[in-house]
Amino acid sequence: MSKKIIIANLKMHGSSSFYEDLFAQVKSTQKHIAVSDVEIVMCIPYPYLFLAEKFFAHSGISWGSQNVAKDLAGPFTGEVSVTMLTDFASQYAIIGHSERSTAYCESDLNIAEKFKRLKEHNVRPILCVGETFIEREAGMEKKVVQAQLETILSNGSEIFADSVIAYEPIWAIGSDMAASPEQAQNMCSFIKDFIHSEGKQSGNNDQKKIPLKVVYGGSVNEKNTLQLLSLDEVDGALIGRCSLSADKFIQICNLAHQI
Ligand code: 13P
Repeated sequence: MSKKIIIANLKMHGSSSFYEDLFAQVKSTQKHIAVSDVEIVMCIPYPYLFLAEKFFAHSGISWGSQNVAKDLAGPFTGEVSVTMLTDFASQYAIIGHSERSTAYCESDLNIAEKFKRLKEHNVRPILCVGETFIEREAGMEKKVVQAQLETILSNGSEIFADSVIAYEPIWAIGSDMAASPEQAQNMCSFIKDFIHSEGKQSGNNDQKKIPLKVVYGGSVNEKNTLQLLSLDEVDGALIGRCSLSADKFIQICNLAHQI
């Protein structure tokens, strides 16, 4: 089984003292988790990236942001560029989260440009994809996710190498209604197959698979972690609410370590 990755998405929560406390607890526990088994990534609000660098540099724990600008510099009030992220040694950035695409009307094209920008600067994108409840009820979930991937694939399938795709069904976020193991496994497998088959079709690669991770997100907690992360096709989890509690987040990392 491949190395699992556990990603915290802290959203717009916390304060300096909250992050100092959380980082200290995660760092001290992580010593007990074999870094070779589980990768831990903390995706935090921009103002606390300096703190993550201070706490986690050379610790084996990675950190990153929850968004990035598609441009490198210029008159874009309120935006943060990828080079600003790398100033704080960020290794990851979440893009395309449904909370952003819904509230700020982000288009697939915009997200694809951000993906490319991150790759150009060696920051790993964590691309969120997923369907609404109505789309799943209509049996359109694969079509929707495929369309979200296709805009990025127009830059070639190799662009996905070393990136993370998070399958986050919108209905499962913040709802306490996680996807069933079967739903998570099916979609993660579909995403991998689709990207690999596109790679083959474009003649990029013969047999070699593109090294990428596909994780599940949406109401992951300490009770369903084992079931979801034991699935072959699920390479990890993207955690919202449970990352706000050091105890719960650490418990989830420990469970991933047991698999
Ligand atoms: P919850 O874990 O709170 O459902 O949030 C999931 C999420 O949006 C992670 O990006």
